[in-house]
Amino acid sequence: MKFFADTAEIADIAELAELGLVDGVTTNPSLILKSGRDILEVTREICAMIDGPVSAEVVSLKADEMIAEGRKLADIAANIAVKVPLTWDGLKACKVLSGDGFMVNVTLCFSANQALLAAKAGATFISPFIGRLDDINLDGMDLIADIRTIYDNYSFETQILAASARTVNHITQCALIGADVVTAPPSVMRKLADHPLTANGLDAFMKDWAKTGQKIL
Ligand code: G3P
Repeated sequence: MKFFADTAEIADIAELAELGLVDGVTTNPSLILKSGRDILEVTREICAMIDGPVSAEVVSLKADEMIAEGRKLADIAANIAVKVPLTWDGLKACKVLSGDGFMVNVTLCFSANQALLAAKAGATFISPFIGRLDDINLDGMDLIADIRTIYDNYSFETQILAASARTVNHITQCALIGADVVTAPPSVMRKLADHPLTANGLDAFMKDWAKTGQKIL
């Protein structure tokens, strides 16, 4: 399973990339706002930092305007994935932009039928939002599993990019179900390394090591 960093914070991306943990990056208008950066400028910087796909989202609601914005965003670098919303117009834009040869990430997916439409419109990635389904008392993981089954049934090549992942359990479940990609905030990715038994065990080793009076360096 590939890991994408769900952020437009350059420092976070750089730190995770050093560990080989960034196979791609996803951004959206809210993350651009949070970064306080100009969308074109920060997206260009991110594209230069990593080899994998960098999702940059269009902000128009009409297909023709989405297509124009998508072409402008795709012009930033070869590793841009144009992100379009899962609306009728977004699907039209997906069809045209994927036909142009650009990677397209169809976002704000909340149902298996929406995912089916995105695959038929040529999406490179479909982004089902796990956490936001959990927020309304549904199970985001059921959606990931349903899309996995449907895409496998018909050998769709669209990759399942599980988004709105907010917990380490979301990430485990995505890997068990077979999501192609999970995108998560850097704070959640850092938590993947944590375990209380690791911390306790290390603490005990350090105390015993101090008692030996030895040094390695
Ligand atoms: O990748 C989509 C993500 O940024 C949305 O996450 O936590 O706002 O639902 P969240």
